[in-house]
Amino acid sequence: MNLDKKTVLITGANRGIGRALVDEALRRGAKRVYAGTRSALHNTDKRVTPLTLDVTSVSQIQRAVAEVDNLDVLINNAGVAIYDDLSKLDVIEQHLAVNLLGPLNVTQAFLPLLRRSKGAIVNNLSLVALAPVPVIPAYSISKAAAFNMTQSLRAVLAGQGVTVHAVFLGPIDTDMNRGFEIPKASAETAAQGIFDGLEKEEEDIFPDPVSRSIAEGWRAGAAKALEREFAAFVPESVS
Ligand SMILES: NC(=O)c1ccc[n+]([C@@H]2O[C@H](COP(=O)([O-])OP(=O)(O)OC[C@H]3O[C@@H](n4cnc5c(N)ncnc54)[C@H](OP(=O)(O)O)[C@@H]3O)[C@@H](O)[C@H]2O)c1
Repeated sequence: MNLDKKTVLITGANRGIGRALVDEALRRGAKRVYAGTRSALHNTDKRVTPLTLDVTSVSQIQRAVAEVDNLDVLINNAGVAIYDDLSKLDVIEQHLAVNLLGPLNVTQAFLPLLRRSKGAIVNNLSLVALAPVPVIPAYSISKAAAFNMTQSLRAVLAGQGVTVHAVFLGPIDTDMNRGFEIPKASAETAAQGIFDGLEKEEEDIFPDPVSRSIAEGWRAGAAKALEREFAAFVPESVS
């Protein structure tokens, strides 16, 4: 999908990849960008509409839906990553609340608008959805679960004209991995890669140099073949 004259909603839009996505969407001609944030947002572009949106707050999600008339692209970008060793259940729950249940609740709330526009859902995941990084296992679990959720939504919504895209981000230079000294792509590069993938209608998007290095292997692999095979089991009532 091309962003020209489209309406886009981005969660976690105040910094990092989310902020870069807002700027890139405007650069690509988006008509309106709803910027979901937990704190006040200052953007001088008239096409940007700030939305107060903590993705763990059902009431804020409902209020946000009431402020949006139409929507072509929902980008579930907000996320949290905390170093842990799987010894604390509350840390795992916190990751699941923000990285799994948050995007799911936001998606369900905006689905009527996306069905109407035959729109797209873009879930910002991570390479750790495919294999855990053991210093952030709770985060890895939440992204793996969010990927599985993305695959189910993709199958369920295919018959309704809504496309669902998984973004497998590699290391990006943002606050999230500050202090983790490995080569990182810029948030701007990531944002461009995400929208390039969406324009090319890629269901699995590998937006940066590190993630791109495994794209071909992933697309030709056994897990992808199984996803396609299992997608045939969508109940007729939802397709
Ligand atoms: N950076 C990387 O290397 C990398 C790699 C793979 C995947 N990703 C994914 O890319 C996405 C963006 O990450 P980033 O690197 O830009 O991270 P970041 O700089 O830490 O920004 C995280 C964003 O998420 C927002 N957020 C956190 N909890 C939220 C909540 N409950 N409700 C609404 N917004 C919330 C933050 O808002 P506040 O400012 O209010 O905290 C902030 O805008 C995340 O899903 C992340 O998992 C990043």
